[in-house]
Amino acid sequence: MKKFLLIASISFLIFSCNTDNKTSETFTCQKITENVDIASQQLGFQVKLIEESGKILNPRTVYNNKIEYIPIDDWTSGFFPGSMWYMYELTKDEKWKTTGTKYTEALDSVKYLKWHHDIGFMIYCSYGNAYRLTQNPAYKDVIIEAAKSLSTRFRPAAGVIQSWDEDRGWQGTKGWMCPVIIDNMMNLELLFEASKMANDTTFRHIAISHANATMEHQYRKDNSCYHVVDYDKINGDVRGKCTAQGYADESAWARGQAWGLYGFAVCYRETKDPRYLEMAEKIYNFIFNHKNMPADLIPYWDFDAPNIPNEPRDASAAAVIASGLYELSEYKPEYKKTADKIMASLSSDAYRAIVGTNGNFILMHSVGSIPHDAEIDVPLNYADYYFLEALMRKRNLDCK
Ligand code: GLY
Repeated sequence: MKKFLLIASISFLIFSCNTDNKTSETFTCQKITENVDIASQQLGFQVKLIEESGKILNPRTVYNNKIEYIPIDDWTSGFFPGSMWYMYELTKDEKWKTTGTKYTEALDSVKYLKWHHDIGFMIYCSYGNAYRLTQNPAYKDVIIEAAKSLSTRFRPAAGVIQSWDEDRGWQGTKGWMCPVIIDNMMNLELLFEASKMANDTTFRHIAISHANATMEHQYRKDNSCYHVVDYDKINGDVRGKCTAQGYADESAWARGQAWGLYGFAVCYRETKDPRYLEMAEKIYNFIFNHKNMPADLIPYWDFDAPNIPNEPRDASAAAVIASGLYELSEYKPEYKKTADKIMASLSSDAYRAIVGTNGNFILMHSVGSIPHDAEIDVPLNYADYYFLEALMRKRNLDCK
């Protein structure tokens, strides 16, 4: 018996002194180092190509075997500069600060963009991280100006920020008056931060109003969400609910569920209103109890896609969910295990590209929009961005 107790105590001591075992078995601190190494190589190649071009290019995806670069008013323009900042944070290597600064400052005029709602993604992922890591006051001004631009899209009668203009070209004519997409939850972080920076609660009130309307109108009884809710901007009524990027109006588009989960986590962080945490938990339960969620926790592009299991996965949705769950794990510790499991899957050969392939993006197998026949089973800059953010959050939780 004594011998058994001695062996048991020694094993316990060895186990508790091994820093790698501070974290779940599925996603260790060593895995973070491995991922950062691979990301350094992939993004290093990406930067080299850009620098060799002599221009400031912003990569979004791969199309016909070629890297697709986007203009600064594309909704994804903040992600590549933002990835530079996460690389700087993860490695402390000044070279990422240099590129982060250069590619972020190239977005300066985006602060005046008023023709769609995505300015939150664009400015907060780039300038938001830049300010967080450098405290450069000029970046604060950009963030505040961007919040002013986003606020011009607030429709008081409905209490929401209008996502797209009613006549948005690529959507065709839908007869919408004030379409709001679930993605818009991601733009609220810019408003919360700008409110603190400008010492002006107007932005915060807009964010809270939008979150409350979304909670009331965008979610179904089963706690999945519609992609689009169209409001009457004169009297505030809901005019219709449908999808643009999901399989069907009544289906659960995977990235939409991810945006909602992440967005309500941010709202809880900023307000401590328990309704937002409850909403995030309900979304979690919908996602992870769904019969179509695969064992590796990388969702199909839509939970109701007709040919599951023969449907594309969406690694971008998985990365957004993982990052959101690391944040939520501060309030719901059990969520960390789920996030770890997602990150272990994303870091496997099934989703993480071999260095030198995949157009120098880190992750494979994301989906942009199947109904638009666009970006199906491709790398996407936002999948990489949220993957890096999740790595950083995990490191801060467990591996510092
Ligand atoms: N915000 C657009 C998308 O998620 O595809």
